[in-house]
Amino acid sequence: MADVSATEVLCTEHRAILRMLDVTKELAHLLEVGVDVPPDMLDAVAEFMRVFGDEHLKKEEQYLFPALGKRGVSLEGVAVDTLQHDHDRARTLLGKMSEAATAYRERRPKADRRWGRFATEYAAVMRRHIDKEQQIFYPAAENILTPEEKRHLGETLQRETTSSGRFSQMADSMAAQVLV
Ligand SMILES: [Fe+2]
Ligand SMILES: [Fe+2]
Repeated sequence: MADVSATEVLCTEHRAILRMLDVTKELAHLLEVGVDVPPDMLDAVAEFMRVFGDEHLKKEEQYLFPALGKRGVSLEGVAVDTLQHDHDRARTLLGKMSEAATAYRERRPKADRRWGRFATEYAAVMRRHIDKEQQIFYPAAENILTPEEKRHLGETLQRETTSSGRFSQMADSMAAQVLV
């Protein structure tokens, strides 16, 4: 298997997620100013984040956070907690977005604004979180883990990556539709 580091695998996923966050933010803006958005688009965002986005979060939780937490460095301990807290918050917001998307499809009053509000917060939480990971946490992981640990982690994450191509295409095609 090609030698790809764990953080490279995760950063590639971040690129697709960031693209979908741009789409999410734009859809939120449109709904908040009263533009009609096809309900299928909100479902597509939800599917992307629930499947591909959550697969990414789980990989970090199952493999990366424990590998770092095991080092017992207190600074890393705090960082892992902060990152886990962001993941939990993102999942809660995604649940609220899904409820609002159902209400929007049923044309219930104010569902558009509700989706817009939750989605705006979701995009902000995820974007800040990804910045934190890429600027502070992933470089720290590169420094702390041994070459052997990094190789093992990289192989494991590559093996666990199943649907990357399809979802990154999905993010690109929605971006082409929504972002001008
Ligand atoms: Fe994360
Ligand atoms: Fe991440």
